[in-house]
Amino acid sequence: MVASGLFLASLIALALGKPTARNLKLHESRPSAPNGFSLVGSADSNRTLKLRLALAESNFSELERKLYDVSTPKSANYGKHLSKAEVQQLVAPGQDSIDAVNSWLKENDITAKTISSTGEWISFEVPVSKANDLFDADFSVFKHDDTGVEAIRTLSYSIPAELQGHLDLVHPTVTFPNPYSHLPVFQSPVKKTAEIQNFTAGAIPSSCSSTITPACLQAIYNIPTTAATESSNQLGVTGFIDQYANKKDLKTFLKKYRTDISSSTTFTLQTLDGGSNSQTGSKAGVEANLDIQYTVGVATGVPTTFISVGDDFQDGDLEGFLDVINALLDEDAPPSVLTTSYGQDESTISRALAVKLCNAYAQLGARGVSILFASGDGGVSGSQSASCSKFVPTFPSGCPYMTSVGATQGVNPETAADFSSGGFSNYWGVPDYQSDAVSTYLSALGKTNSGKYNASGRGFPDVSTQGVSFEVVVDGSVEAVDGTSCASPTFASIISLVNDKLVAAGKSPLGFLNPFLYSDGVAALNDITSGSNPGCNTNGFPAKKGWDPVTGLGTPDFKKLLTAVGL
Ligand SMILES: *[C@@H]1O[C@H](CO)[C@@H](O)[C@H](O)[C@H]1NC(C)=O
Ligand SMILES: *[C@@H]1O[C@H](CO)[C@@H](O)[C@H](O)[C@H]1NC(C)=O
Ligand SMILES: *[C@@H]1O[C@H](CO)[C@@H](O)[C@H](O)[C@H]1NC(C)=O
Ligand SMILES: *[C@@H]1O[C@H](CO)[C@@H](O)[C@H](O)[C@H]1NC(C)=O
Repeated sequence: MVASGLFLASLIALALGKPTARNLKLHESRPSAPNGFSLVGSADSNRTLKLRLALAESNFSELERKLYDVSTPKSANYGKHLSKAEVQQLVAPGQDSIDAVNSWLKENDITAKTISSTGEWISFEVPVSKANDLFDADFSVFKHDDTGVEAIRTLSYSIPAELQGHLDLVHPTVTFPNPYSHLPVFQSPVKKTAEIQNFTAGAIPSSCSSTITPACLQAIYNIPTTAATESSNQLGVTGFIDQYANKKDLKTFLKKYRTDISSSTTFTLQTLDGGSNSQTGSKAGVEANLDIQYTVGVATGVPTTFISVGDDFQDGDLEGFLDVINALLDEDAPPSVLTTSYGQDESTISRALAVKLCNAYAQLGARGVSILFASGDGGVSGSQSASCSKFVPTFPSGCPYMTSVGATQGVNPETAADFSSGGFSNYWGVPDYQSDAVSTYLSALGKTNSGKYNASGRGFPDVSTQGVSFEVVVDGSVEAVDGTSCASPTFASIISLVNDKLVAAGKSPLGFLNPFLYSDGVAALNDITSGSNPGCNTNGFPAKKGWDPVTGLGTPDFKKLLTAVGL
């Protein structure tokens, strides 16, 4: 609660006389509205806008240094995760930033309220005319042609010179809403008829050649069926866009696919932003049911929480993406692993906003939370298959402080799923932990796809698992689902089970995974070297020996992971 209330408490009589001539500096802009949006006209000047300001973290570079320090196996501080208070102290805005913003608010007669416990985010309401004046903006009405979704946005805005370095961004301004809301990043459920592969390993049920069930994953990745023992080791599964996880369907799923455990095994519910979890059968969400069935049904005995984010967003058009992270940051004991199967194209979010969200993942990572996201289902064309001339990186997979999970299919050989999104961020450069892996890949790739992707960007995904033909129970019936949405919960479950063994041995959970995955973890991953992720009228990136932007470093082997973490 570092800065809560400070905006009132530290209001001091600064504004003697008129503010000096304004010196506004361009802060963010975009050349035009995103594809699909058209300008309708000026916004009503008296229309009220709810704006949010993001203040700069007081010492993010130190937070980042500590994140790597506690997440890198060879570091002396490996596993010594930061407390809530330690993280808050590094990110709560400094007094100089608070003072600068407060005096600007006062000069402009604005009353703001703090909306995050570190004081990083504040909000206030002003009419369009005043917002245009304050930020030298042109707030206008834009309409999305296909859906009719309307939004008031500006193509550029400026901030006073004296706030530079103190104010990260104003939102919503140049980031447009996702007209389709955050689409679940899985493809439409499809019933597969094709044979997937021939299995040679005797332990793998032959049924796995047509559909994937928990038993298949257990056999392919050496996942134990015995129950976890550590109640402190929690697994969080996020849900958005009114996707509800149905308990009756989970019971049916467990009765069918986990006859070895109690079919009453279930999850707990956490809600925010007015979220709920309707148990009406027809409201069961394919995405939510997939995510909960392949966590509760694979991470045997790990206490699992379904975090349902409603539509009453505090973060504007981020649709709860930031709210859920802030809610977990406020907890003293957040889950050790968090899996999310939603996302969007990186270009739909302004760089400043994307960085602010990514920095929130770093905070949670420093607390010892593994954050996993599905990489997307459009191959190199983005979160969903789309036409394009340049490759489209997805968000948040480009953020270096989380773990992006792609998809594979088959065994002998396990090969890349063609929809598995992967590529290189335009917002973040290559982090140290993957620089060797990425440069090895780019050398092997040669000129293929050159000019279509950003060779200096952070590469994704980091890892992968099976993602084709997962059997999911939805409103009583079994559907087969494809997507990286299958892969993120699967990888998260395996990490949760590794954490259970670590905690039982008196050690810390893995926390932010990537520095481990790209070093000691490599030996515990099955390298996937065939398949590719076509899109944008190309064959996409080919999977190759070592890391590749289709399957990452590869798929997990639970037994080898235990060895890699020293158990
Ligand atoms: C905004 O202004 C228009 C006329 O310009 C007026 O009709 C409308 O009532 C005003 N709305 C508010 C909320 O003041
Ligand atoms: C950030 O923290 C480090 C380590 O405590 C310190 O050396 C540095 O001066 C701090 N930077 C700022 C801007 O406060
Ligand atoms: C599977 O094995 C059968 C018999 O050995 C063979 O005819 C078939 O081509 C194989 N299928 C694949 C996909 O390898
Ligand atoms: C490519 O990535 C780098 C590193 O993140 C970034 O600075 C640069 O702006 C990107 N280039 C384009 C064209 O987006």
